[in-house]
Amino acid sequence: MEANPGTRHSIGFSIVSAHLRRVAVEWSSVRGQFELPDDLVYLNNGSFGPSPKVVLDAATAYLRQVDANPGEMLSVYRGKVQETKTRLGAYAGMAEDDFVFITNVTVGMNMVSRGLRNLGEGDELLTTNLEYGAVDNAWEFAARHKGFEIRRVEIPSPPDDAEQIVSLIRAGFTKRTRVLSFSHISTKTGLIFPVAEICAAARERGIVTVVDGAHAPGMIPLDVSSLGCDFYAGNCHKWLCAPKGTAFLWSHDAAQALLDPFIVGWGWERDNETYLGNFENPGTHCLALPAAVAHAIGYQESIGRDVIAARGRELASYGRAVIGSIPGTRILTPDNPALANSLTAFALPLIDQERLAAELATRRIVIPNGPREDHTWLRLSSHVYNMPWEIDLLAEAIGAAIAG
Ligand SMILES: Cc1ncc(COP(=O)(O)O)c(C=O)c1O
Repeated sequence: MEANPGTRHSIGFSIVSAHLRRVAVEWSSVRGQFELPDDLVYLNNGSFGPSPKVVLDAATAYLRQVDANPGEMLSVYRGKVQETKTRLGAYAGMAEDDFVFITNVTVGMNMVSRGLRNLGEGDELLTTNLEYGAVDNAWEFAARHKGFEIRRVEIPSPPDDAEQIVSLIRAGFTKRTRVLSFSHISTKTGLIFPVAEICAAARERGIVTVVDGAHAPGMIPLDVSSLGCDFYAGNCHKWLCAPKGTAFLWSHDAAQALLDPFIVGWGWERDNETYLGNFENPGTHCLALPAAVAHAIGYQESIGRDVIAARGRELASYGRAVIGSIPGTRILTPDNPALANSLTAFALPLIDQERLAAELATRRIVIPNGPREDHTWLRLSSHVYNMPWEIDLLAEAIGAAIAG
């Protein structure tokens, strides 16, 4: 069933494509595989992805198994985490010796920003205006301590095409640029950066590349080692819908020696530092979470990675049509499917924030939004459990907030 029986479609957008209608019956059954209650309109997978019940069940079962005899924790988990590593490596195109589990991308980007040995006084880090605030903070903190400078390339929203992005970044390189840090998929606009082309341009000049891949795993097919970057931090707890607190840091084998360890633990050896030794064992932590990532991959593969990405694009283009046609709205995300997938950002006319919050709350809609200089920014992210009627309901809430 496509329509929510309880929904009033007061704005009256009715442009669901025939294809979307045809597959809607199957998609509507997906929602029951999650804990999301029927009346919650969750349009914020971009911040935190809910885990399917099978993934939560697996994580909980691991926790119980281990607490039946915590003395066996390490031996129980060693096998499970290794299984997940093999699975995630195959899923995201990473050799097992080149990545480690971490708790989130913020940690991963700190591991790189704080650990990089090639950044110091007189050097420059190049980044963009479309990065995540906490990652900007991590670089600023590292810059303050190491004495390097930060330069920022302004990418328009939306950009014309991939070539424009690459040439803007190329034009931002100077003789002093040592490191380039940018997102695979921007948190602010959903722009998919042409990572391989950008990394190739950086490599020509010997510039180290650090990619914030918070949004890519599980949203779009991903083959990390073919991107040509030096470091890639990816989240499993957004689009892959793994438990919160699961992520990875991948490092090109030739770049691994550039990183000092972030947390020095059992794996570090004075005369024989290795990447896994330096990064794989940061003390006792919840290994049930990475162990359950294998189940999140299994869940995604049961639907199909390409099918999920295509569904993301379909819902996004429905959102572009419905929300984008609200008078005075600009779409900040490119229409080109190579440059965007399941995240779409809008510059709505400036709306009274309290009124918008109230209209969203009345309809139990969860979506990030807020006032910017001359507009209200709103980011729509939808995943396998979402339905087009939820976007209709969002349009209704925005319309009501504008009408006052
Ligand atoms: C682009 C980007 N980078 C990094 C992060 C940080 O992710 P986490 O909170 O999992 O560390 C986010 C979170 O939304 C993000 O959007």
